Amino acid sequence: MARLPKKLQQKLEERRADNTLRELPSETSLVDFSSNDYLGFSQNMALSHLALQILSDKELARNGATGSRLLTGNNILFDEVEELISTYHNAENALIFNSGYDANIGFFSSVPQRNDIVFFDEFIHASIRDGLKLGNARAFKFKHNNLEDLSSCIAQQKHQLDGGDNQAYLVTEAVFSMDGDTSDLHKLMEICESNDILLILDEAHAVGVFGKGGKGRISDLHLEDRVFARMITFGKALGCHGAAILGTNALKNYLVNFARSLIYTTALPPHSLASILAAYKLLSSDLGSQQIIKLRENIDYFKELLTGMRLSTYFIKSDSAIHCCILGGSTLVKQTALALSHQGMDVKPILYPTVPKGKERLRFCLHSFNSKQEIQEVLKTLKAIITKSPSLARGN
Ligand SMILES: Cc1ncc(COP(=O)(O)O)c(C=O)c1O
Repeated sequence: MARLPKKLQQKLEERRADNTLRELPSETSLVDFSSNDYLGFSQNMALSHLALQILSDKELARNGATGSRLLTGNNILFDEVEELISTYHNAENALIFNSGYDANIGFFSSVPQRNDIVFFDEFIHASIRDGLKLGNARAFKFKHNNLEDLSSCIAQQKHQLDGGDNQAYLVTEAVFSMDGDTSDLHKLMEICESNDILLILDEAHAVGVFGKGGKGRISDLHLEDRVFARMITFGKALGCHGAAILGTNALKNYLVNFARSLIYTTALPPHSLASILAAYKLLSSDLGSQQIIKLRENIDYFKELLTGMRLSTYFIKSDSAIHCCILGGSTLVKQTALALSHQGMDVKPILYPTVPKGKERLRFCLHSFNSKQEIQEVLKTLKAIITKSPSLARGN
C-alpha cells in the first residue's frame, strides 16, 4: 500500500511528542463514568425488543434505507418519528438527520447567509464551528457564558446589520459537552429579542437529563415559542443514533431544500428510526421517569461528595450529567485516567485541542445506573491521587 505523505506523518509525530496522540480505545468492562448513555437506554433490552416489534408490525425489516431521504430513503417511520418528537418537545415540526454532527453541519452551512452574522460561544461544539466554516456568514465568538462580552460583541457588530434583510443569529449549547455547565437561557433570550437576533440551541446533552420527561432545557423554561431552532440528538441519553432540528414548518422546508448533509447522504436505516421511536416510548413511560429521577439523585450525590471531600475547587460547577475535573497537562490527565482504570473506573481524559491548552481534564459522566458505592469509589480514588500529587495539592 502507498505510504502516508511525509507532512501527515510529521503531524502525527508532533502529537506523539506532545502526548496528545489520539487512539481508538478498546472496549472495557470498567465501571462506566464516560459514556453519554445517561439513562442506560443503550443497554435496555425492552427498548431493543420494541424496536424490532415496530419494524415487524410495519413490515419494514430492511437492512438499509436504500437512498437519500429525497430519493428512496424516506420511509413512513420518518413521518411518525418526526411527528412524535415535535409533539414531545412542543415544536411546530422536526427534521431528522443522520447524526448531530450532520444536523449542525447542514444547518449552519445553509441557514446563515452571506452578510448575516452569527454570534457563538467560544466553547461551542466542533460540528457547529465546522458548519459555520462551510457557510458564508461572518461568525463572531464571545467568551464562554459571558453575557457582558456578548453584549459588547453585539454592540460592535450591530451596525453591519442595520437596514436590509441581513439577519443575526446566536448559537450556544444547553449543556456544554466538554464542561458540563449550562447557559443562562432566559438572559440570552432577552438579549436576543432586544437585538433582533434569532436564538439557536444545541440540546444534545440536555435531552433526557433536564425538563419534565427529559424534554430539555427550552421546554423546561417554556421558551419553545421564542427559540428559532433546537438541535436534539438520539445518540446520548436516548441510547440510539441520529438527531433532529426542531423548528417551524418553513424552517424544515428550507432545510430539506438546502441542507447538503441531509440531501447528499443515505438516510438512517429503518432500524435506527424504530429505535428512536422505542426510546421515546420508554422516555415518556414511568420507567423513563424513574431513570431520570435516579440520574438526578446521582448528580446530587456526586456534588454532595465533591463538597464533603473538598474536591469542588477542581471541578467546573455543573448541574448536568457531565462533571469535569480540571487538572491541566496531557500527561497528568492521562496518568490519572489510567490510575482510575486500574481501580476499575472508566473516566476519559480530555486533551488539547478538544479543550484549551492547560485546561486538560477528566470528564466524569454520571448515569442512572451508577451505584452510590461506585460514585464514592471513583471520588475516593481521585482524592487519593490528587493528595499524593505535589503539583495538584491545593491546600484542600
Ligand atoms: C454539543 C454536541 N452537539 C453535537 C454533537 C454531535 O452529535 P452526534 O454524536 O449525534 O453526531 C455532540 C456529540 O459529541 C455534542 O456534544
